[in-house]
Amino acid sequence: MKKVQQHYDEVAAIYDQRYDREKGRQYYGHISRQVMAGLTQGGLLLDIGCGTGLFIERYLGSGNEAVGIDISRGMIARARTRCPESEFLVGTAELLPFQANTFDAVVSLLAFSYLQHPEAVIKDVYRILRPGGKLALCTLGKNVLTSVVPALYWLGEKMELRKIGVGDFDERYYTEEEMHHLLSSAGFTELSVKRCSFAHVSLAKPIFHIAKKMEPFVEERMPYLAYNLCANGIKPE
Ligand SMILES: C[S@@+](CC[C@H](N)C(=O)[O-])C[C@H]1O[C@@H](n2cnc3c(N)ncnc32)[C@H](O)[C@@H]1O
Repeated sequence: MKKVQQHYDEVAAIYDQRYDREKGRQYYGHISRQVMAGLTQGGLLLDIGCGTGLFIERYLGSGNEAVGIDISRGMIARARTRCPESEFLVGTAELLPFQANTFDAVVSLLAFSYLQHPEAVIKDVYRILRPGGKLALCTLGKNVLTSVVPALYWLGEKMELRKIGVGDFDERYYTEEEMHHLLSSAGFTELSVKRCSFAHVSLAKPIFHIAKKMEPFVEERMPYLAYNLCANGIKPE
């Protein structure tokens, strides 16, 4: 965990650049829309692994309030500047410092793969959600494309590449079945687990645009090639 924290402290200053340009905006816009679609407007949201507050910025407004938690002090400092009206805590998802039945919604984007005890975290998320509260996650899924990612990231670390997310962090990627089991074991109902994303921000521009055009088809007809998993569940009333 210390290693992940140090990595994100190191890249905090450049993290937003990735999503400022056209490819990044399209990539992040796509996943944040998927997550947003699983939420109802109005209420208090917790973003786990909130990073620089990109999702919270999108969520705020129309009566929505948000709290963010992240292990990286550097990422949290940026989030506080981006969304001064929200509360941000430096802390780990594996020890959520909130009372039971506090939140109307909990989200996590691109952070869940770092968790070493996902079962315990999901149970704790269930505890802090109010009855009727919603969970919406987007994390890397296990498939033929992502199976090579850990080796590439390990190589990147050896080559001392200072790129966002690149390093040997013992990340966990999930199949639909594993994610479904995780959520249902914690008590969540009305589950939906589906794959999304085919165009990745790190692809060269022409390839990214081709992949972006193919994305709806891949998600609909060849989901095994889409590399993120979007999962939703509700804590029953
Ligand atoms: C790829 S970034 C995603 C940030 C943000 N959710 C976004 O969508 O831009 C992953 C984030 O997860 C955070 N993170 C990793 N492990 C964590 C943990 N155990 N608890 C809280 N945050 C964690 C990292 O510090 C980093 O900010």
